[in-house]
Amino acid sequence: MCGIVGYIGYGNAGDIIIEGLKKLEYRGYDSSGIAVIKDGKIEVRKQKGRISNLETAVENEHFNSTVGIGHTRWATHGAPSDANAHPHISMDKTIAIVHNGIIENYTELREWLTKDLGVIFTSETDSEVIAHLISLYYDGSLEDAVYKAVEKMRGAYGIGVLCSKEPDKIVAVRKDSPLIIGLGDGCNFIASDIPALLKHVRSIYLIENNETVVLTRNEVKIYNADRKEVKRDVFHVTWDEDAAEKDGFDHFMLKEIHEQPKGLFETLNRRLDKNGNILLDGISMTKQDLEKFDRVYIVACGTAYHAGMVGKFIIERFAKIPVEVDVASEFRYRDPFIDDKTLFIAISQSGETLDTLAALREAKKKGARILSVVNVVGSSVARESDDVFYTWAGPEIAVASTKAYTTQLMCMYLIALYVGYTKGVLAPDLYNEYIRELKFIPDKLKTLLKTEGDILEAAKGLYKKEQVFFIGRGPDASVSLEGSLKLKEISYINSFAIAAGELKHGTIALIEQGSLVIALATQDRLFEKMLSNIQEVKARGAYVIGLAKEGNKEIEKQADKVFYIPDCPDDLTPLLSVVPLQLLAYEIAKLRGCDIDKPKNLAKSVTVE
Ligand code: M6R
Repeated sequence: MCGIVGYIGYGNAGDIIIEGLKKLEYRGYDSSGIAVIKDGKIEVRKQKGRISNLETAVENEHFNSTVGIGHTRWATHGAPSDANAHPHISMDKTIAIVHNGIIENYTELREWLTKDLGVIFTSETDSEVIAHLISLYYDGSLEDAVYKAVEKMRGAYGIGVLCSKEPDKIVAVRKDSPLIIGLGDGCNFIASDIPALLKHVRSIYLIENNETVVLTRNEVKIYNADRKEVKRDVFHVTWDEDAAEKDGFDHFMLKEIHEQPKGLFETLNRRLDKNGNILLDGISMTKQDLEKFDRVYIVACGTAYHAGMVGKFIIERFAKIPVEVDVASEFRYRDPFIDDKTLFIAISQSGETLDTLAALREAKKKGARILSVVNVVGSSVARESDDVFYTWAGPEIAVASTKAYTTQLMCMYLIALYVGYTKGVLAPDLYNEYIRELKFIPDKLKTLLKTEGDILEAAKGLYKKEQVFFIGRGPDASVSLEGSLKLKEISYINSFAIAAGELKHGTIALIEQGSLVIALATQDRLFEKMLSNIQEVKARGAYVIGLAKEGNKEIEKQADKVFYIPDCPDDLTPLLSVVPLQLLAYEIAKLRGCDIDKPKNLAKSVTVE
């Protein structure tokens, strides 16, 4: 949520920063801005709207500056506007800041600064207090002033600061918001995420909570909360720049949907040894640990939470441990029962989702063992966990999550199979059979992706609908939730998912002539029950699209249109059945002319509560 970039070197700071911001636009895109130091003065340019607006606004300006900071915003305090866009500057115009996060006590700070010190605010943001505080405490050392300002603040922040009196320096600080440092040759960078820096550097420092960083052109120094200098290992990024490019696809979302076979192959095969057994390399849980766990909590947000719901189903089935799944924002405030016999699984693509991180910390405090399923290597969730099970999806740029979801599912299967087998509650032949079936999934998915054309055709008849219902049973009910989320977040169609058996307990009242119902019926043992549910909505005038396994033709008698997925065991269908739903959401959103990769009001990484 919000992206920050800073540069100090010998190149054109304005160009480098705007280019970096464009790569972070998925983090927020309602306004953007840059500040550079030129001839000893801070120059700020900011614009409401997409970064292209800012780019156009500064097109003919040649800042000729070699140091600056920039920001792309997702509004929290104050509407998207030029005035509320970052950077914010102090009254004397000597300090400029960019901020990602929320300053929780900003009202009291603002009141104090206004009433007692006569500060005049020019925006409605919480962030502006930071610039005024740093200016208030400035006495010849920018880092000293930043330390003092930070002591006054509560909340979450990744902040970059410029000071016109120290033009050869950037100071940055973080707490609960991501911050990385890019290490160049004669230049250094700050950023909230790796894609911003890929064009320039591969060596980075991952900054920890409560650390402050002082950057000059040739040096980066990191200090902890006690102001002691700390050494940090260099983290080498292995992605190439292309991984964060569209590669000929119209949208990142479509590219990422098509990358799922590869992501699943990698996530599976990196966890199999040469005999085909699951290998939890680098994960320190022993057989005794596994036997000790008497419950599992899976906690996550959004799409990752939906992957956790399938995880519950699978872990209970294969590993015979009771599992609770919760959304992180609820879990962290409900005082759940946790002790050292609890295995806590956090799922997060970004590894920076604030609620997930806070829930993880809560569980850790109470003694749980923390295993995280994370895509971004070195992210906060990964660093704060006892063990990490990485998804190998590669960078996910589209706001709507697709390949992260299916690779998270793959991790759920591997964890469930491993725990069940190691504890001796899953028979070896079943364990082997499921691994064999998992190996077929990437190729089955490639075949399934070839039906994209049929889905586009169907979308042409559906894209004007204003309401869609998704129904399913067992794992299909969880996948329905994800299908519904995909559709609503990118097409803005009001969609709703419900366990098919629940329909008649209220929601069926909404079904009328022409209502669109998408019915997932991939479970052999629940197939007939689903056919009855389809009949119930058909009887009330619904238009039904069915989703079934190849060969289950019976559904054609009930549904108006059917999409098929390749045959596979019932337990594994979520890995396939979500894909037609992703494609349908994509095609519908495209036909409606929506901004697919950057849906309104959303941001990729939610680093505020
Ligand atoms: O980075 P995370 O996986 O922790 O993000 C959690 C949710 O914000 C995320 O899954 C969100 O729901 C998706 N972008 C929706 O497609």
